[in-house]
Amino acid sequence: MAATFKTLDSLDAAGRKVLLRADLNVPVRDGKISDTTRIERLVPTISELADKGASVILVSHFDRPKGKRVPEMSLEPVAVALATALGRPVSFATDCIGPDAEAAVETLKAGEILVLENTRYHAGEEANDTDLAEKLARHADVFVNDAFSAAHRAHASTEGVTRFLPSFAGRLMEAELNALDAALENPERPVGAIVGGAKISTKLDLIANLLSKVDVLIIGGAMANTFLAAQGVSMGKSLQEADMHATALQILTDAKARGCEIVLPVDAVTATEFKAGAASKIVPVTAIDADAMMLDAGPETVKLVVSKLAGLKTLVWNGPFGAFEITPFDAATNAVAQAAAKLTVEGKLKSVAGGGDTVSALRHAGVVDQMSYVSTAGGAFLEWLEGKTLPGIMALTAVAQDAAPL
Ligand code: 3PG
Ligand code: MG
Repeated sequence: MAATFKTLDSLDAAGRKVLLRADLNVPVRDGKISDTTRIERLVPTISELADKGASVILVSHFDRPKGKRVPEMSLEPVAVALATALGRPVSFATDCIGPDAEAAVETLKAGEILVLENTRYHAGEEANDTDLAEKLARHADVFVNDAFSAAHRAHASTEGVTRFLPSFAGRLMEAELNALDAALENPERPVGAIVGGAKISTKLDLIANLLSKVDVLIIGGAMANTFLAAQGVSMGKSLQEADMHATALQILTDAKARGCEIVLPVDAVTATEFKAGAASKIVPVTAIDADAMMLDAGPETVKLVVSKLAGLKTLVWNGPFGAFEITPFDAATNAVAQAAAKLTVEGKLKSVAGGGDTVSALRHAGVVDQMSYVSTAGGAFLEWLEGKTLPGIMALTAVAQDAAPL
């Protein structure tokens, strides 16, 4: 275990006021919360703290109001959804600092739960302003960070507060860090990664880090088109980055030198238009028509990838294979996801997935609950895959934990 942070196991929570950094930044569509996963995954930490007799003060950002009070970005409806998920009452304060927050904190009893308004209503949040961090810290005796998905941000409520309060990892943070450690830092080998997505250019650091850590790197999505094109394959009208060919070839060379096997699509599902139910054709990647686009990997690729998965003990997954949002271009993602899920359920594979589209792709394939671990994080998962040190995690290590209570 690489982790050196304290967990709730060593927190004597009874009678304490706990400032809990949650990530309540849930997706919203048409004014409604469209996915409550992040809320549900906070329940164990909140319930444990409340049951132990702590007063739980939740603090979180929501969307990007950039230091202004944007009404649509209020956490009030999220607090209501949290109460439902918890099956306990949750109170709400209209600001995260100042008189309303202080009064709400003051009257909060043991076992009670309070949500403070969006920290990003204050510009000091993203600026990691010391004054804001100290004011937040003054609400509480200890700080618990359960927001792995916001740990790539060095903000007042993620990093700043740890300078003022003894700091602990919550249960969700602990689970995320343990899963990531088991997936890439200390994995059972062979370990493989699936990386999809549109562009190589946005995932260069990620690919470089993975090349040094995994035995097999399976590349999907439009990113694979660039690798194929770089090798002289005619990709027709497929999305690809013409200016990244040299980089792609260099990656292939580096992989070879490191003994990392790269797996690219061998066949393609193509269409001449990008829309649901478009007439599609399955061809080897070497036979893509000049007026066609590759929109998914084909069945031979699925067979190849599934055969690679069967040889792995650990899999890290980020990014879909094709344009999974529209049929029939979701087939490869679905089939590979289902194969990974099956191997996981059979106890043959440890599978860890996360980052942006990945969770929706796995949900679409109906396998979210069958993977070993699905991260709640988008950007933080990607930065972790890049091998970066996340400031929110750094702040939980030894030095910060020893900060004296205010
Ligand atoms: C996320 O949703 O990725 C986190 O909540 C961080 O949000 P941000 O990208 O607005 O900092
Ligand atoms: Mg984000």
